[in-house]
Amino acid sequence: MSSRNSYRDDAERYLFVNQNPVSITATQADWTAKKQVWVPSEKHGFEAASIKEERGDEVVVELAENGKRVVVNKDDIQKMNPPKFTKVEDMAELTCLNEASVLHNLKDRYYSGLIYTYSGLFCVVINPYKNLPIYTEQIVEMYRGKKRHEMPPHIYAISETAYRSMLQDREDQSILCTGESGAGKTENTKKVIQYLAHVASSHKGRKEHTAPSSNTMSYGELEHQLLQANPILEAFGNAKTVKNDNSSRFGKFIRINFDVAGYIVGANIETYLLEKSRAVRQAKDERTFHIFYQLLAGAGEHVRTDLLLEGFGQYRFLSNGSITIPGQQDKEIFQETLESMKIMGINHEEIMSMLKMVSAVLQFGNIVFRKERNTDQASMPDNTAAQKLCHLLGLNVTEFTRAILMPKIKVGRDYVQKAQTKEQADFAVEALAKALYERLFRWLVHRINRALDRTKRQGASFIGILDIAGFEIFEVSAMNFNPFLPFLLKKNSWNISVL
Ligand SMILES: Nc1ncnc2c1ncn2[C@@H]1O[C@H](COP(=O)(O)OP(=O)(O)O)[C@@H](O)[C@H]1O
Ligand SMILES: [Mg+2]
Repeated sequence: MSSRNSYRDDAERYLFVNQNPVSITATQADWTAKKQVWVPSEKHGFEAASIKEERGDEVVVELAENGKRVVVNKDDIQKMNPPKFTKVEDMAELTCLNEASVLHNLKDRYYSGLIYTYSGLFCVVINPYKNLPIYTEQIVEMYRGKKRHEMPPHIYAISETAYRSMLQDREDQSILCTGESGAGKTENTKKVIQYLAHVASSHKGRKEHTAPSSNTMSYGELEHQLLQANPILEAFGNAKTVKNDNSSRFGKFIRINFDVAGYIVGANIETYLLEKSRAVRQAKDERTFHIFYQLLAGAGEHVRTDLLLEGFGQYRFLSNGSITIPGQQDKEIFQETLESMKIMGINHEEIMSMLKMVSAVLQFGNIVFRKERNTDQASMPDNTAAQKLCHLLGLNVTEFTRAILMPKIKVGRDYVQKAQTKEQADFAVEALAKALYERLFRWLVHRINRALDRTKRQGASFIGILDIAGFEIFEVSAMNFNPFLPFLLKKNSWNISVL
């Protein structure tokens, strides 16, 4: 067997159901004889049991796991599907479509290494938390040009369907990734872009712009830039939370524009609601945005001096000091972020200005105010941090200090100076830091869009991918309403939901 084939076999284990027809026939007989059902279970959610006796509203069942007999209410029992539906690829085919069967099927497939399952138009994904060999160029080629039901469920099949529908029906398409934090929305969004960048590139075979060797795919320049947008956005917009080491702290809608021939001609990214408060304060065991650690760990001597950088422990806005993420080297990733920005065409001066703002955001936190004795007024006993900040921002330190401690306020037609309390001054610097970081992020998105949206003409049609947490189950029911729903319902959406 050639190495290529064994490689493919390895990947196929994670795509195709490996079913033994003999065992299916045996279990079919067993299933018919045993009257199997699902009953609620503390530990497993639902567990298999067989009906032994019916007594009015109640039934006596024998649990498959340990042979124990229990009495359950008839209404709590859910029908079990015949064994031929074991690990079914599309749950819309199930004879008994109930919660227990759906959960069982997803679990059964997941434990066999199958993370994608359809449920009608939806594709349900369960995070494998390990890298599976199902995202390579060979697998992209396997899915290319295929109809959805010709191939096992995969995000590539969803992407392919959206792409073909766009070309055939001349209609814009959209893909929605939703689910709770850490479910895999962002990872799957990246796979959609990776797929489209591969199948819809007009630069086939041009090797001069190929990605670094760690990346097995080959792309044209625009596609390459499109793929580099993510590491940049993630450096500035993602952070470690208790749920996800690389949690997106903003929502995004990526629109990929195609010409009539189906080639990518440009792209545009819209972002929503950056969690800017993270720039000034983080919960226990959480970090602020990655870029802060990348810069502090990765900047060379020269940059450290220019940007007046200090140690992790020196900044009040790094609530938890330098938390490291296992297996993630901020220092090396900083170089990758810089490389991605270069590929995006962001020049050295622009990069340095951005990093200056990052340093300034941290420096805002080091300004200390004190309450004056006998009055409520705030004072700044030591202006070292303010001086550094003003140097970074190009401001006059006296004017800045006055604006924070004694701002001019309009009263009627006149301006008066009003002394601030310590709380007001603290609030002002935090607000300025958050606003500065948010504007920096917005500028960055704008800059990326300028690089990706180079054709002046509008594309013929687009595929949009929305990566946003929205259907999480919150305590407050009003939060369950997703503001993007009306927008999405207007589009032809191939939905992906993520568990
Ligand atoms: N398909 C996948 N293959 C391998 N790892 C994955 C996959 N999907 C998610 N992960 C892992 O889970 C983490 C969280 O996924 P992410 O897409 O960031 O979640 P979300 O955007 O839904 O919050 C990723 O950093 C990655 O380590
Ligand atoms: Mg995310």
